[in-house]
Amino acid sequence: MAHKFADIMFTDAVKSIQIDYGSRKMYTRMEQGTADYNNLIGPNEAAFISARDSLYMATINETGWPYVQHRGGPVGFVKILDEKTIAMPDFRGNRQYVSVGNLTKDDRISLFFMDYPNKIRLKILGRVALVGLDKPDIITKLQMPNYRGHIERGFVIKIEAFDWNCPQHITERYTLPDIEKSVCALQDKITDLESQLANLKPQ
Ligand SMILES: Cc1cc2nc3c(=O)[nH]c(=O)nc-3n(C[C@H](O)[C@H](O)[C@H](O)COP(=O)(O)O)c2cc1C
Repeated sequence: MAHKFADIMFTDAVKSIQIDYGSRKMYTRMEQGTADYNNLIGPNEAAFISARDSLYMATINETGWPYVQHRGGPVGFVKILDEKTIAMPDFRGNRQYVSVGNLTKDDRISLFFMDYPNKIRLKILGRVALVGLDKPDIITKLQMPNYRGHIERGFVIKIEAFDWNCPQHITERYTLPDIEKSVCALQDKITDLESQLANLKPQ
């Protein structure tokens, strides 16, 4: 099977619906070829992940329920360790430990990285190793010295597959730093115009 995301996600049930709705033929092309692809992080994926400040993470609980939670931090809090591995700190939250509990029983996760201003999203499937604070070789790589979060553990994620999504139905949203960048240029312009105006006033 070639496209690893399709390999994992196109189950018999999914394929059957693709047949019913006429898209199966188109998607069989993704499954042709012998060499796997969409399973190793390349420069595009690495740059995209390194520029994110948050993601959504789905785990599976013991009764089969999917559980989605948000993870966030400073830009670049998800580290690229190698072409098959990423890692991120797990900051202390409300101490329900739903994701961590789920991961002790089933190490599979689905990640969703969003770039709202550019309407781009990246989906990742992987397997998580929970890394304790007693593993400084990993934990030191995840530390963010100027960030208020308290690291409780690391998530080291072996990538199994990824896929990029189209921009459909994504509304552009901007962070405060994004807005400040644009507003800063406008403020400079206003200051400049105000000083020109002041010079025009009769003395
Ligand atoms: C004081 C405090 C209260 C929180 N309350 C909630 C909450 O009600 N719902 C929620 O989804 N996250 C809440 N959070 C954020 C979560 O604790 C955080 O996202 C954590 O990583 C969730 O992990 P889990 O859902 O896997 O247990 C809270 C965080 C703190 C520090």
